[in-house]
Amino acid sequence: MAVLEAIALAKFYGSVPAVREVTFRLEPGQVLGYLGPNGSGKSTTVKVLTGLLQPTRGQVLFEGQDIQSDLVSYRKRLGYVPEEANLYPFLTGEEYLEMIGTLRAMSPTRMKTKIGSLLELFSLFPHRHVSLGSYSKGMRQRILLIAALMDNPDVLILDEPLSGLDVTSVLIFKNLIQAFSARGKAVFYCSHILEVVERVCSQLLILRKGQVNARKGVARKPSSAQRGTPSKNSRGRHHDIHDLVRDLRDVSVFHELQEDAFQ
Ligand SMILES: Nc1ncnc2c1ncn2[C@@H]1O[C@H](COP(=O)(O)OP(=O)(O)OP(=O)(O)O)[C@@H](O)[C@H]1O
Ligand SMILES: [Mg+2]
Repeated sequence: MAVLEAIALAKFYGSVPAVREVTFRLEPGQVLGYLGPNGSGKSTTVKVLTGLLQPTRGQVLFEGQDIQSDLVSYRKRLGYVPEEANLYPFLTGEEYLEMIGTLRAMSPTRMKTKIGSLLELFSLFPHRHVSLGSYSKGMRQRILLIAALMDNPDVLILDEPLSGLDVTSVLIFKNLIQAFSARGKAVFYCSHILEVVERVCSQLLILRKGQVNARKGVARKPSSAQRGTPSKNSRGRHHDIHDLVRDLRDVSVFHELQEDAFQ
């Protein structure tokens, strides 16, 4: 069964159509890339998929059930990185994540472990007591990624998640997405940059003026560390991730942190 399914989704702002007749199925373990130029309706689709906006027509199903019938339970299973977020500037990075964990009803112990390991993974641990108002754009984006990942969601919905990220964070993020899908989780990945999406996605939808213009399956391009590695199963891919980050940080630390990210 599809984890997430959009059926003839349409969203109008007044009489202006932003999304028209969008249909797709997202299966467990799939990463769906949703591509389109500025103004083509990507963020509008995302807002409907997360339940922030009601569709004008059509339906969004999560595990076969309309998301509007139980938004609270749906959101508990969802990780969402918005295109723009108003982070509270007076909270520190750690306080913000604790607020998110509390809203998601995570246990204090698990929350503390997850926040610590994800802050470490995205190199924000030394900045955890600094207020968000003093964070750079890339640091704020990393906090949003951590907030989306910290409760081990079953579906990730990402709206331009790499905006402002440096090379190291992009690499860590891409590896996490691959590890995430290898664990049977589903990702809806929205971007206007084909190059990055192509590398992580198994299915591509190209949007134009609110309508799906093209769709195709993608044979995932092997990363430099995966080239020459015959194993394609989830375990093999998991080991490739270690190869990829070997030059960036201590492997054993990364291994521990990444395992923590999926608890
Ligand atoms: N709140 C709103 N009220 C009215 N029109 C809107 C609103 N939000 C978006 N639109 C319009 O809907 C269309 C799709 O916008 P959307 O933000 O979904 O595009 P996008 O593909 O995410 O673009 P970008 O790549 O720039 O982020 C655009 O024509 C936009 O002007
Ligand atoms: Mg957008």
